[in-house]
Amino acid sequence: MYNTWEELKADCSGCQKCLLGATRTNLVFGVGNENAEVLFIGEGPGEQEDLKGEPFVGRSGQLLDKYMDAIGLDRKKNIYIANMVKCRPPHNRDPQQDEQEACLDWLREQVRLMKPKIIVCVGRIAAQKLIGADFKVTQQHGEFIEKNGVLMMGTFHPAALLRNPNNKPQALEDFLKLRDKIKEVCDHTY
Ligand code: URA
Repeated sequence: MYNTWEELKADCSGCQKCLLGATRTNLVFGVGNENAEVLFIGEGPGEQEDLKGEPFVGRSGQLLDKYMDAIGLDRKKNIYIANMVKCRPPHNRDPQQDEQEACLDWLREQVRLMKPKIIVCVGRIAAQKLIGADFKVTQQHGEFIEKNGVLMMGTFHPAALLRNPNNKPQALEDFLKLRDKIKEVCDHTY
């Protein structure tokens, strides 16, 4: 258990708990306001993220930023973004269960220090691990459920929206619902 972000980051930065540690350029710890009430959790770093050491900076990240911007959220100000795994899986494959398990303790510590009111699972991988193994993004996106005192919601992964733009209006609806929920339960996000 960690008392400060500095201690947590320092230990995490040298992590070799799974094989992804051997092939990373940079560990992607997370970005944003460490006192945020809203935490977004994606899948894992892609090529651009691995090179820059920051989550969601490639094409999908740019799309995610647009949805956030539409509801007044900004990674530099009022939210935090992390991933299920902190190192890039080769060829952008899905992170394996053992890799997710190995990395989960870091994420748990981030959540413990941040105490977010709302967690948004960006895509299937995060939603199935954190909300429920049977989570179906196409059916359950935009629904809030409470888990351990935190409101959890799953939405489309922006990479999936780039592949299938037909779901973009539904994704925007999820963000509008998120905006309403933030207004309802958060004190200092807006
Ligand atoms: N996709 C993710 O899930 N996370 C990132 O950081 C980048 C792309």
